[in-house]
Amino acid sequence: MTILEVRNASKAFGGIHALNDCSISVEAGKITGLIGPNGSGKTTLFNVITGYEKVDAGEVHYDGRTITNATPNKVFAMGIGRTFQLTRIFPRLSVLENMHVSAQRHSLRGLLGGWSRSNERQRALELLEFVGIAALKDAQAGNLSYGQKKLLEFAFILIAEPKVILLDEPAGGVNPTMINHLQSRIQELNKQGITFLIVEHNMEFIMQLCDTVTVMHRGTKIAEGTPANVRQNPAVLEAYLGD
Ligand SMILES: Nc1ncnc2c1ncn2[C@@H]1O[C@H](COP(=O)(O)OP(=O)(O)OP(=O)(O)O)[C@@H](O)[C@H]1O
Ligand SMILES: [Mg+2]
Repeated sequence: MTILEVRNASKAFGGIHALNDCSISVEAGKITGLIGPNGSGKTTLFNVITGYEKVDAGEVHYDGRTITNATPNKVFAMGIGRTFQLTRIFPRLSVLENMHVSAQRHSLRGLLGGWSRSNERQRALELLEFVGIAALKDAQAGNLSYGQKKLLEFAFILIAEPKVILLDEPAGGVNPTMINHLQSRIQELNKQGITFLIVEHNMEFIMQLCDTVTVMHRGTKIAEGTPANVRQNPAVLEAYLGD
């Protein structure tokens, strides 16, 4: 069953066609990889799904509903969580304070009050434990390493218990031990029923983790299939070598 679908989406920035009649679908309960050369439109696709950019044409459907050009808050509230290629955590707050903000539905309002439910703080600590940075709970988030910031952002979105999670280069800048840890966490969440769409340039990461892989080139899908199939597809190789 398809849970998330982009139909014929186009998005231009001036003369650059970041998305060009792009259609992709994501199966519920699966881990889908989204790969493609730099500038092929992967992040733009995430942005139009999650309301950070509006499409010029095309539609986005989620869980039987149209969410084309919905606001980021609405998309988030409907159960789609995402991380950013460059993390968007609050650098002056501690790791745990960042989780607190997330518990208060992504708003700074949260800082004005205490934890609204006593179990929320406990839940935040559990999630930091889950992603592997609980020991850093009192560290200032801005002082974390790049990889640790990515893990914090992952925990940050888990607070909202999303049904679908979009990760934009989760392994980029993360050390190999942490990458293995992250893979096992994704697999564990997937076993609990969470659907993933993952953009990543680390091919080993994608090949080990994903049930299916979609390949983008010049703003549109050029291939999809199992990791093994996609790896052997000449068009995919050409897309990477040609750019
Ligand atoms: N806000 C923007 N303004 C102008 N051009 C943009 C904007 N966002 C993306 N682009 C351009 O659109 C194209 C697609 O960019 P996008 O970031 O979606 O690619 P990507 O596949 O995520 O690449 P990478 O693997 O390098 O992250 C690129 O040419 C990029 O420069
Ligand atoms: Mg990108």
